Amino acid sequence: MAEVVIVSSQEAAGEIYAAAAAALIARKPDAVLGLATGSTPLPAYAALLRRGLDLSRVRGFALDEYVGLPPGHPESYRAVITREVVEPLGLTPALVRVPGDDGGLLETAGERYERDIVAAGGVDLQILGIGRTGHIGFNEPGSSFGSLTRVKTLTSHTRADNARFFDSPDDVPTHCLTQGLGTILRARHLVLLAFGASKAPAIAAAVEGPLTASAPGSAVQLHPHVTVVVDEDAAAGLANADYYRYAWDNRLAWETP
Ligand code: F6R
Repeated sequence: MAEVVIVSSQEAAGEIYAAAAAALIARKPDAVLGLATGSTPLPAYAALLRRGLDLSRVRGFALDEYVGLPPGHPESYRAVITREVVEPLGLTPALVRVPGDDGGLLETAGERYERDIVAAGGVDLQILGIGRTGHIGFNEPGSSFGSLTRVKTLTSHTRADNARFFDSPDDVPTHCLTQGLGTILRARHLVLLAFGASKAPAIAAAVEGPLTASAPGSAVQLHPHVTVVVDEDAAAGLANADYYRYAWDNRLAWETP
């Protein structure tokens, strides 16, 4: 089962991610971080920044990228990852990849990205947000648990949710390149973060619902090392919340996420 941690603030959630990342980087300075965009990971990146670590050897692979934005578009995930992760945290730009950023054919971009992740030795620590549709990465409902990086069509819900980053809802791309659920499940440690009441149904389905492609986040139940960190609002639909609190409060000294 996933370890579920219910926290009182986004800052506290960020600290749990940063502690896991810091421990990893201390033992492996060229660790491979799986990177996410959107609002959810920002407190985690901020917490990692506060640690003041040397991240110049850390490698990174983003979960996803829009298809069809002009190169250099400020809302392309390449630009977002550069602005919100690479520059503030001091990662080396050449060591951080985003799907489709190698200039090759879109049709085969997924295969190349998978090859590059394998060549890097795999992702050590993957940070995840979750969409209201239940997606992780941009694996919308119906995505296979075995899927690898590929082009997907975004749902109208996801396009509406992400319209806040664009001048007009029509400017949100219809397609994306995303790591598959199978890709995500290969990472060694998953940290899934969610904040706010709008995420409560997706978190309940991911953590406690049946394994189903209709709730792509439920794929995390197949992973042996998952830490789900949620605030009280996002935890509102969890039937076993009291047990998760009890388990966290009584964790053994050596049990770190
Ligand atoms: C982003 C990603 C998505 C987001 C999800 C939640 O790289 O893969 O799964 O994590 O759409 O977005 P926010 O955090 O903006 O609510």
